[in-house]
Amino acid sequence: MLKGRHLIEPGDLSIGELDDIMNLAARMIGEPERYLEVCRGKILATLFFEPSTRTRLSFEAAMLRLGGQTLGFAEPNASSASKGESLADTIRTVSSYADVIAMRNPKEGAALLASQHSDVPIINAGDGGHHHPTQTLTDLLTIREIKGKVGGLTIGLCGDLKFGRTVHSLAKAMSRYPGNRFVLISPPELEIPDYILSRVFKPAGVRFSQVRRLEEAIGDLDILYMTRVQKERFFNEQDYVRLKDSYILDSKKMELAPEDLCVLHPLPRVNEIATEVDSDPRAAYFRQVKYGMYARMALIARLTGYAGEMAAPDLKSGSGEVPAGAPVSLRRKGKKK
Ligand code: NCD
Repeated sequence: MLKGRHLIEPGDLSIGELDDIMNLAARMIGEPERYLEVCRGKILATLFFEPSTRTRLSFEAAMLRLGGQTLGFAEPNASSASKGESLADTIRTVSSYADVIAMRNPKEGAALLASQHSDVPIINAGDGGHHHPTQTLTDLLTIREIKGKVGGLTIGLCGDLKFGRTVHSLAKAMSRYPGNRFVLISPPELEIPDYILSRVFKPAGVRFSQVRRLEEAIGDLDILYMTRVQKERFFNEQDYVRLKDSYILDSKKMELAPEDLCVLHPLPRVNEIATEVDSDPRAAYFRQVKYGMYARMALIARLTGYAGEMAAPDLKSGSGEVPAGAPVSLRRKGKKK
């Protein structure tokens, strides 16, 4: 049961629980009107100590679409943090007002700390360069809806693999499904942290390669996950300026890509995907935004105690294939969202 649990990083959810959230999200996409009362009378607090557009608004939209309400702040200066209040005290306070808290903080480990002082579920909406598990739910749902599976795929992670928390969470989650292979595309300065290689990929026997040029890798990929160079995590501006345009996906590079490539990006994009790519049917990053709201709806519903339509045991296969009978809503022919 997910009721009352915290979500700090993707490993907090079993494969069965991930499948269950994706199944519920897919049902919600198909029939959103069935879920309008699921969180009636409940409150979500969004505590954003770092800027956000999609994540905060999609949490709020998700709660509103479940019939619940929201409160919170979108910048630390609007909270008592600016008066020097500790995170622990802020969380103790907010957890007596709200039924669930989504929190983003620039410090790695902040969400874990918050969970130690909260009586209600804490959802990590990004802790520094560490993890971003609800972006991963978004990414998994998008991949499953488009590819029909989350295993047996070759995934290119491109850009800032060092500071990009979405990449760390996605690599961790996708390593748990059989047959996934990673191509890590970054400049030497922005390589994925060693712990992902040694403590995530190696124990799981995940195959990976590291390359410098996107052109070298793009032809072999099922998924290309582009990322923004994380300006706010750099110690000096010159390094950022030197590295910020390391990779730019444009129509010319897309000519080298397979016809069924799926291009994802957690957004916001800066320069790393030229706008000419947006009209390419393989560009899925704006569809991904929409899936993010449904993934968060399913998560909030479960954490606050909605027990309808739990995955049957045979859906908990963890094979990475979508089990027969599981909803894959948007692949229905002719239905475009
Ligand atoms: C990402 C984040 O905040 O880590 N954005 C998001 O939540 N969609 C990616 C980024 O900021 O580059």
